[in-house]
Amino acid sequence: MKSRDIVPNATERFIAAGSYIISTTDLKGRITSVNDTLVDLSGFSRAELIGTHHNILRHPDIPRAVFAMAWATITGGEDFSGYIKNLCKDGSFYWVFAHIVVQTDAEGELAGFRSVRRAASRTAVSTIEPVYVAMCAAEQAAGARDAITAGSEVLCAFLRQRGQSYAQMVATL
Ligand SMILES: Cc1cc2nc3c(=O)[nH]c(=O)nc-3n(C[C@H](O)[C@H](O)[C@H](O)COP(=O)(O)O)c2cc1C
Repeated sequence: MKSRDIVPNATERFIAAGSYIISTTDLKGRITSVNDTLVDLSGFSRAELIGTHHNILRHPDIPRAVFAMAWATITGGEDFSGYIKNLCKDGSFYWVFAHIVVQTDAEGELAGFRSVRRAASRTAVSTIEPVYVAMCAAEQAAGARDAITAGSEVLCAFLRQRGQSYAQMVATL
């Protein structure tokens, strides 16, 4: 099952306080391990998740520019933190604060990625959600080829107003 086959609905799910959703991927984003919290919350079985691309959890409300920024950061060898809304198998969703850590092998080469996520605060969601809505609208209006540039421009304008980078903003929300 691919996330585009799932019809999103308005039911929000919540991560229990103190719980973390953890997964690891290879360099291409294929899932190599998941913890029980991810299995329980997403509604996908472990067998459905392992070996599948992480976009199985992709919610259409998250702009392409956010994932482009995340991938540019981690493939450049830096960790990435951000706010993400994920899609469950039944169409419901949950918001997370995700921290993706770069994993290296004994030679120091990139070996994969590990994401640890906790519940996003309501303040963070209410700040970021309208920005993502505006980014998605700009991406859609721009068309596939120019979507990431258009989404990034909306995000940059918002961050300029705050005088912050995305990393600084997520650290202070
Ligand atoms: C370690 C790791 C964890 C990820 N976790 C998620 C996630 O929870 N939800 C999500 O939508 N994308 C996640 N991604 C990003 C996906 O790989 C992908 O870029 C995103 O879903 C957009 O997919 P698309 O370009 O096919 O639309 C993760 C990537 C990595 C490397």
